[in-house]
Amino acid sequence: MTLRLAEHNKDDRERQLAEIRQSLGGRSIVLIGLMGAGKTAVGRRLANWLDLTFTDADSEIEEAAGQTITEIFAEHGEAYFREGERKVIARLLEGGPQVLATGGGAYMNPETRAAIKARGVSIWLKADLRVLLKRVGRRDHRPLLAVGDPEAVMKKLMADRGPIYAEADIIVESRDVPHDVIVSAVADALAAKLGCDAVLSRGAQAAKPGRKKVQ
Ligand code: S3P
Repeated sequence: MTLRLAEHNKDDRERQLAEIRQSLGGRSIVLIGLMGAGKTAVGRRLANWLDLTFTDADSEIEEAAGQTITEIFAEHGEAYFREGERKVIARLLEGGPQVLATGGGAYMNPETRAAIKARGVSIWLKADLRVLLKRVGRRDHRPLLAVGDPEAVMKKLMADRGPIYAEADIIVESRDVPHDVIVSAVADALAAKLGCDAVLSRGAQAAKPGRKKVQ
């Protein structure tokens, strides 16, 4: 496991990650957020840190369909894709613990949201418009951005989806910094949420008096 230890010493981080794994039980860590938020890149690294399987829902949908997402949208339409997405994510959530990255629209489905609540811990990777556009501009495999002005589409998605994404258990800002910095913030937020944040760096302990270090 390679760790970038900006804020925690290695032993503290290892203990923190072990506690997170233990507290999760069979639950999955589910990354949600808009296209370009870094769900796959951060999720992959987070899984590596935690020694958990990483699963990308979009890839699983493509595998199940034997088609790319672009092909599914073109041949069958978005509603068909959404139904497949719901089924695949329901199936994947049976297979926790794992880190599961979902496509940007998945959490908008109420059944999927309920399934994630029941079987996972949700993390909204929240990024601003500039960061999202910079990231999605690098690739062209997203059908929703292939029609119309990507900036206008993204702004609308931010407005429509933001209030729903905000229901996530944890919200982490996904900034334009190396992915490991975000992974580190996610690990700290998870530890706090799961009640296993007793293992903190000296600086963090000083900022939170009264917390004991786990031996
Ligand atoms: C979508 C996001 C995509 C993919 C599909 C639709 C969306 O996933 O599921 O193109 O509705 O936001 P990413 O968020 O991984 O790009």
